[in-house]
Amino acid sequence: ATDKLWSGRFNEPVTELVKRYTASVTFDQRMARFDIQGSLAHAAMLQRAGILTPADLQAIQQGMSDILAEIEEGQFVWSLDLEDVHMNIERRLTEKIGDAGKRLHTGRSRNDQVATDIRLWLRHSIDQHLQEIRALQTALLDLAEAHADTVMPGFTHLQVAQPVTFGHHLLAYVEMLQRDLERMQDCRRRVNRLPLGAAALAGTSYPIDRHFVAEQLGFDGVTENSLDSVSDRDFAIEYTAAAALIMTHLSRLSEELILWMSPRFGFIDLADRFCTGSSIMPQKKNPDVPELVRGKTGRVNGHLMGLLTLMKGQPLAYNKDNQEDKEPLFDTADTLSMTLTIYADMMRGVVVKPEAMRAAVLQGFATATDLADYLVKRGLPFRDAHEAVALAVRHAEKQGCDLADLSLPVLQSFSALIDDTVYQVLTPEGALASRNHIGGTAPQQVRLAIGRARQRLNG
Ligand code: ARG
Repeated sequence: ATDKLWSGRFNEPVTELVKRYTASVTFDQRMARFDIQGSLAHAAMLQRAGILTPADLQAIQQGMSDILAEIEEGQFVWSLDLEDVHMNIERRLTEKIGDAGKRLHTGRSRNDQVATDIRLWLRHSIDQHLQEIRALQTALLDLAEAHADTVMPGFTHLQVAQPVTFGHHLLAYVEMLQRDLERMQDCRRRVNRLPLGAAALAGTSYPIDRHFVAEQLGFDGVTENSLDSVSDRDFAIEYTAAAALIMTHLSRLSEELILWMSPRFGFIDLADRFCTGSSIMPQKKNPDVPELVRGKTGRVNGHLMGLLTLMKGQPLAYNKDNQEDKEPLFDTADTLSMTLTIYADMMRGVVVKPEAMRAAVLQGFATATDLADYLVKRGLPFRDAHEAVALAVRHAEKQGCDLADLSLPVLQSFSALIDDTVYQVLTPEGALASRNHIGGTAPQQVRLAIGRARQRLNG
């Protein structure tokens, strides 16, 4: 007989290659803590139902606590022959406590066991992400607050569009992260349901108490349908989708940091601890971290596609395909956690160069819209104002100067409605101050928005 827990049924063991091909213990052992947590709740329920004696339960609790210590100290010997984390732990328990260990799996299958473990594991990861997202929002808010008045060009089509404040620009990412936070919280609600009790697929004939187990494990409730319980991985897909979107947001910010750090922009510098040099070009300081964030977004997006594809052809209920859900999930969580954490620190190390930002605003006719609005306020229809200003811009461009550098008579040649009050309107600061409504870039509004965002964080 082989070592397998179902050995009685088989005439020959699997080949070495099949063993390696089918085993998951090399990676699913990282769910060990949650596997034990789930088993303890299941055992407590079995005892209450009269299926285990109090002595059995006590032996299981003692055995599991010893096993957890072995695992945490790196003493536990993981065996490929025992396939996965569940059977490794169960076998070790039986080695330690005998028959009580063999009774643990009563009324349970690895199918509902693994679904429970992943949910516990994922819930823990989500709770970490919620903190990591908030920490990044805080770092962005701190930087935004320091630059609530700092003028920079806002871009559309990567062409200078209108002046904004650097603080306002950063707040755009605070909003993206807020939606990300809410998505994670929403996903958590569906993660946090107990599938245990579904057993292999149809439920069990033992008098189990699923609500008790759910309560023990901190789940908000139990899943409804046993077939769905063991085969559902929607929550894993949702989680990965939420993670991919966070990575996508940070990838966009990374692209901006990389551009801003290029000498052609020169808007910011990143702290040296986020950059590396070149082995050949002595002058180089490369923004490796944002580049890698952009790059790693590809792998998380890939995991999302991987999980969707994993599920699309599976008939109900459990199929071994599902074992392939773990590596993408683990890698998604690891990548996301590292990225969020590193990002908060990176934002704290951003050196802003306000002079360069201001100089760039003055180069792109960023206040042209303001001149048009000025004319409209003096009675000109917007389309005519647009045309008059377009001609003025063309003239200034030919002269190689900004609109504000044109003399009053020259400006008046484009519209007689212009007088010397126009110069306030043509400064970036004037343009900023005029956009003074909720959601606008006026420094006063930026400060109010920061206040609201901070309140949201604390509330
Ligand atoms: N290692 C398996 C997984 O990750 C556990 C469930 C196995 N169930 C089964 N019927 N073979 O999905």
